[in-house]
Amino acid sequence: MTERTLILVKPDGVERNLIGTVLARFETKGYHIADLKMLTPSHELLEKHYEEHKGKPFFQPLVDFMSSGPVVAVIFEGERVVEGARSLMGSSDPTTAPAGTIRGDFGRDWGENIQKNLVHGSDSVESAQREIDIWFNQH
Ligand code: CDP
Ligand code: MG
Repeated sequence: MTERTLILVKPDGVERNLIGTVLARFETKGYHIADLKMLTPSHELLEKHYEEHKGKPFFQPLVDFMSSGPVVAVIFEGERVVEGARSLMGSSDPTTAPAGTIRGDFGRDWGENIQKNLVHGSDSVESAQREIDIWFNQH
């Protein structure tokens, strides 16, 4: 079934001029950009987006980091794009994310209390619908 997922190029990716490089991984795989915008997200938006992590030690640093500069929000669509995009991204810790993935190839630990791992991707079809609604006010 054709799905949609929310991808974010996080502030570290924008700052490092990696927007094109990151989005090219998804486009080259064959996924299609359905919508795209650049914005500096508010704390309010991010607290909704990262709701599941409220109360965890990295929550506040994460919200501060994500609102520290512009991000690129993209709706990608394609067959099984939710799973496919997660696979292209690699695991959360950029130091140990496998080579060949976006986080593994372009990220590393910067010794700060936040994982700057370049990219966000929805973790399920349900999360994707929720997140697309938050970022684009649509399903
Ligand atoms: O983004 P992903 O779904 O891979 O990871 P998550 O567990 O949902 O965490 C969301 C984000 O919080 C991560 O992408 C990291 O940027 C950050 N994080 C962190 O800084 N330290 C952790 N121990 C876990 C997550
Ligand atoms: Mg997650």
